Amino acid sequence: MPAAVSSRAALRPQLDKRPLRAAHLRVVSEPQVARPAPFLKWVGGKGKLLPALRPLMPKGKFRYAEPFLGGGAVFFDLRAEDRLEHALLCDVGRDLVGACKVVRDALPDLLAQLTAHEAQYLAMDEENRALYFYAVRNRHPADFVMDDVERAARMLFLNRTCFNGLWRENRSGRFNAPHGRYANPGIVQADKLHAASRALQGVDVRQADFRALPELVQDQRIEFVYLDPPYHPLSTTSSFNAYSGGQFSGKAQAELADVCRRLDRQGVRFLLSNSDCGFVRELYRGFDVGTIRAARSINCKADSRGDIDEVVVRNYAN
Ligand SMILES: C[S@@+](CC[C@H](N)C(=O)[O-])C[C@H]1O[C@@H](n2cnc3c(N)ncnc32)[C@H](O)[C@@H]1O
Repeated sequence: MPAAVSSRAALRPQLDKRPLRAAHLRVVSEPQVARPAPFLKWVGGKGKLLPALRPLMPKGKFRYAEPFLGGGAVFFDLRAEDRLEHALLCDVGRDLVGACKVVRDALPDLLAQLTAHEAQYLAMDEENRALYFYAVRNRHPADFVMDDVERAARMLFLNRTCFNGLWRENRSGRFNAPHGRYANPGIVQADKLHAASRALQGVDVRQADFRALPELVQDQRIEFVYLDPPYHPLSTTSSFNAYSGGQFSGKAQAELADVCRRLDRQGVRFLLSNSDCGFVRELYRGFDVGTIRAARSINCKADSRGDIDEVVVRNYAN
């Protein structure tokens, strides 16, 4: 045994024999409960836009739906503020929706698998970390028997260790972002996952296309919908909107505007965000169309990075 740790007494902390004062007692007070927030890094995530979006939301509590969930920044914020009487969360991404359900229903199993990933990955040098990342990436659920927990752990591991937290899939639905080379990527983040799990209790999470929204909204008596589709590209070279198995086309944007008109006829309030361009403004002509400032890094050309306007469309005023 090395000399420095040969004596147990040397390891024992020295007790402070002074009487306890208030300052001492504060240390043992209740642990802080983390505010729920997205547990995935997500391109187009609305975390930074929450201060601009909050005043645009209806007041009070409501039955809520979010059909383009992504990292769920708006959902988690509304949940933290106790604004939701009911919530329906949908996204077309199979891995994303599966991960949300596992965080909601099987968090201890997920944490165990993430802890195992983290222990192996952090013990490796850079070259072996890359090999480990690509081995996990290549172990695709379509080719291997994989239960929901393993699939969710795979997704979270890849999301935390890939380049820029970019969850990007090719046309066959295979995640294809490269390795990210972060010194300490924070693979487990147990506090964040516990907070997200609490926020997701009782929430209806579904893999669904936005075109299914009007029926779901009717069945669940939804009162307010926030829609954050992939941005319509501002130029032919500038877009990232290939989250799940392909681009979100102009035709899809037009179908989404039809869905919003249907929500309006159903008497449901909606707030939608998108890129500020003539095409989007034209699609929502007749509704209240405004702008907020958004920081972009991936959607625009390299020479036009920085803050730009984002369109917000509403069918109500508050
Ligand atoms: C801009 S992101 C949403 C970001 C989210 N608001 C946040 O704060 O993280 C758009 C989402 O739409 C999803 N999506 C793409 N096409 C879809 C479709 N046809 N139906 C439903 N969701 C779709 C993508 O998987 C992606 O998660």
